[in-house]
Amino acid sequence: MTETLDIKITKTTHSRLAETDFDNLPFGKTFSDHMFVADYADGEWKNLQVIPYGEIGLSPAISALHYGQSFFEGLKAYKHADGKVTIFRPDKNAIRFNKSAERLCMPTLPEEIFLQSMAAVVDLDREWVPSKPNHALYIRPFMFATDPYLGVTPSATYKYMVICGPVGPYFSKTLRVKIETYYTRAAEGGMGYAKAAGNYGSAMLPSRKAAEEGFDQLIWTDAKEHKYVEEMGAANAMFMLDGKLITAEAKDTILDGVTRDTVIALAKEWGIEVETRKVSVAEIIEGAKTGKLTDAFGAGTAATIASVGSISVDGEEYFLSDPKTREFSQKVLATLDAIKYGRAEDTHGWNYLV
Ligand code: PLP
Ligand code: COI
Repeated sequence: MTETLDIKITKTTHSRLAETDFDNLPFGKTFSDHMFVADYADGEWKNLQVIPYGEIGLSPAISALHYGQSFFEGLKAYKHADGKVTIFRPDKNAIRFNKSAERLCMPTLPEEIFLQSMAAVVDLDREWVPSKPNHALYIRPFMFATDPYLGVTPSATYKYMVICGPVGPYFSKTLRVKIETYYTRAAEGGMGYAKAAGNYGSAMLPSRKAAEEGFDQLIWTDAKEHKYVEEMGAANAMFMLDGKLITAEAKDTILDGVTRDTVIALAKEWGIEVETRKVSVAEIIEGAKTGKLTDAFGAGTAATIASVGSISVDGEEYFLSDPKTREFSQKVLATLDAIKYGRAEDTHGWNYLV
């Protein structure tokens, strides 16, 4: 039996629920009424609390701001037709959370704090979980260094927090994607596998340049030769080539996505051959030219299953089939939704009841 943690709860005196427009929810701009905060000091996590969502006071010298000891996770809570609320596979995020912590020389967080912190906020804010199709409560756990010290050493103190907000899909349209062959997201020995804040900051300039050229997302390639597809900015890149599901191996340059893992599990159950291996840009382009590339999508918590409409490399754009006609990604999306929203039996135990 897991121990129930002692979490102090202070409820808001003014809920913002009634003034929130659930028909207009741009990703990441609306926050629910409460948040979780805990402090790490003297080698332990303490002061576990849920408090009203709001600003927090911090020293301008905290090392998270200067040296990037900061990382996050992303999960979603779903409302079922009978009113039940479940979080999708949080045990996987708990493991990845601690991989990020270790890579950044930060303290790990016991799984029960990770799970119960989210459950405490989502439970209090369950009215914030949208009931519309394709909508969910996005959960953002994060940790950052709080020592007010400008020496470049790991901080001795940290904050762990959880904030939440109702969201619709992150991408509202089929993606026009560019294969990046100059900039690099992550190199071997780097921290690509961690959900480090710095990975996202370093992606902003190349992403902005791509957006100025009309692209919605980048597909990152390997740092050495720019010949192999790694992942997208906010999702893992997955392809159906010649009847096989192929995706890059989740090694040290790639985030080991929960959605990626889930798609692979479903594909295997459906008898589809899955290859996690080096995926060359050349074979993807060849597949797009010959029609053997029958599906391409980004898989992620925020992104869900985001169809790729065209892939560009070195100024050439290759168009793929109409996403509505793609058998695999349509079936994956429908199956995933049915499980997450409780319309299909959760045979894998992926839904964590709040
Ligand atoms: N890759 C990157 C860089 C991401 O930011 C994300 C989003 O979390 C993913 C992949 C997909 O991971 P997951 O399915 O666990 O959300
Ligand atoms: C998520 O899917 O949770 C992500 O982290 C994507 C985010 C960077 C918008």
